[in-house]
Amino acid sequence: MPSKLLVATGNEGKLREFKKVLCGVADVVAPHELSLPPKEVKEGTSYAENALAKARAYRDQFDGLICGEDSGLEVDALDTRPGPLSARYGGEKTSYPEKCRMLLKELKDVPLYERTSRFRATIALIDGDEVKTFEGVLEGWIGFEPRGTEGFGYDPIFIPKGFSQTNAELGLVIKNRISHRAKAIGKLAEYLKSR
Ligand code: IMP
Repeated sequence: MPSKLLVATGNEGKLREFKKVLCGVADVVAPHELSLPPKEVKEGTSYAENALAKARAYRDQFDGLICGEDSGLEVDALDTRPGPLSARYGGEKTSYPEKCRMLLKELKDVPLYERTSRFRATIALIDGDEVKTFEGVLEGWIGFEPRGTEGFGYDPIFIPKGFSQTNAELGLVIKNRISHRAKAIGKLAEYLKSR
């Protein structure tokens, strides 16, 4: 019988990815499925700290495995900004199409070969008294205009290495196979299978 794993997220897209990759490995549940309230976590400047803070927020209410995830987009020409602050880039209330436009504007004079970028995801797992972290990276570059309608966030401007389309053009089937989050969840799956 697989162990129950509470994934501390209210994001349905992230939850679907966890459920898919961990199918048969862990019984993934989200806070709202256990009638636990969403938690406001004050995010800092490190993915691992943020991921752990998200998981710790449920420690008093759930007796079992808990994990949190934090991710962001790193742009080399911007000294890896926005990074862990990706959700707040341009202000928390700014829409993603607008955030994408702002980022493209910051890169308007940057040539193709200097537009390298990556998505990074870190998962923190609380396993009893131990904390384990798992990381996944998707390398690529930032395009010159938004393209595509699938996915979310910065997907319309991110072109993964080895492809000529953006994440938003490639669609979820391909994206979920190559994504930073899928890689981090895959490492978590290996750990859960071996414990
Ligand atoms: P978090 O939900 O606090 O981890 O924030 C993640 C930030 O990175 C948000 O701004 C997301 O839009 C962005 N992000 C993370 N993963 C992806 C992705 O797969 N596609 C597009 N944007 C992403």
